[in-house]
Amino acid sequence: MSHAPGSATDYGFDPGDPAFRADPYPAYARLREHAPLAWYPARGWWLASRHAEVDALLRDRRLGRVFVPRRPTERFAPWNLLNEHAMLELEPPDHTRLRRLVSHAFTPRRVAGMRERIRTLTDALTDELLEAGGGDLLATLAEPLPVAVIAELLGIEGSDRDLLRPWSNAIVALYEPQADDTAAEAAVAASVAFTAYLDELIVERRSRPGDDLLSALVALQVEGDRLSREELIATAVLLLNAGHEASVNVIGNGMAALLAVPERYARLVADPGLAPRVVEEAIRYDGPLSVFTRTAFEDVEVASGTVRSGEVVGLLLGSANRDPAAFDAADDFVVDREVNPHVGFGAGIHFCLGAALARVELQEAFTALAVRAPGLHLSADPPRRDAFQFRGYRQLPVGV
Ligand code: HEM
Repeated sequence: MSHAPGSATDYGFDPGDPAFRADPYPAYARLREHAPLAWYPARGWWLASRHAEVDALLRDRRLGRVFVPRRPTERFAPWNLLNEHAMLELEPPDHTRLRRLVSHAFTPRRVAGMRERIRTLTDALTDELLEAGGGDLLATLAEPLPVAVIAELLGIEGSDRDLLRPWSNAIVALYEPQADDTAAEAAVAASVAFTAYLDELIVERRSRPGDDLLSALVALQVEGDRLSREELIATAVLLLNAGHEASVNVIGNGMAALLAVPERYARLVADPGLAPRVVEEAIRYDGPLSVFTRTAFEDVEVASGTVRSGEVVGLLLGSANRDPAAFDAADDFVVDREVNPHVGFGAGIHFCLGAALARVELQEAFTALAVRAPGLHLSADPPRRDAFQFRGYRQLPVGV
């Protein structure tokens, strides 16, 4: 096995280094230029960094998602269960079946039906920020909005919603390259609690269905096929977690980028109709998800090398989205960028199932802020979270 194209570490790729995490983009640029397929020894993965290859590999059926259960499997059983039955981790024909079933319940109509409610929520949260005279934009709006939206969609009510983010944070922390033993314990405990909670809720929805998405998933029958208990739970957890983790950080990262250069935010304030473009640009410029992996089912030539059958390649979405070969002024936040073929939602068969919902809630959030809080400004330097895969800020202190 030859790993001739070079080690990613030689070019400054090091998720363990806080300086890299704070600004990975210079290292990404070096990788794209000198080692578009680089070896990442700490994980035993290849890394692809250019837009052309990342986009092509996401669509290439010679590679796919292969979930490797965490070991020891007995200890990690509750966490493994949530992944083994999630469409994100499956390939055809299992993926096709599950995605088709879920899409019968999670329809464009259901998403469109949420817009008015999302608008009411964003307006109320923005007004709270104004009434408080500013504060932490993450805690007051970026976090509560996506959590409320996905909870309402699935029919999770009242104070139960407060359970979602801690569970989700603990479960997804295990995707971080740096996850340690404490993180593993917390992830397993959260998986157990989340599963027990959903088991109970599913029983309730079976006997007393509402018009929420969970009730629809429970009742689903498509040509004699339906979701098993494990599939229902894994799907609900995937929707609940994927349904807010990324959106929170798109609002946070996007607003941080807009407010860092006041003229950017002023453009949006002057023309809130730009919100849809701002949303796509926020996902491109400093996206919430850094890397997704694929395993090769046969030898695949990639840029400067070969990913051999059975090897894993990490697709650096954040790097692809800053590739000057795909974007003019790739390192600038262009508020009115017209053509924006970013890969922030992925591509191919795993293309984000929630993209339409994410777009609605993000567009509403950026619009509400621009219209109702035109004077918004950073009141201190926002501190980053100590994470690589889920890229975001710990706080976003703003004045109004
Ligand atoms: C801006 C916010 C979001 C971003 C950037 C995002 C990004 C992504 C990406 C990159 C993937 C593909 C991963 C891969 O190819 O391995 C994905 C898949 C997925 N996303 Fe999202 N997502 C967002 C919001 C949402 C929301 C709101 C939901 C649910 C309501 C959601 C549900 C899913 C699901 C179910 C999948 C798996 C699809 C499949 O495997 O077929 N996402 N997302």
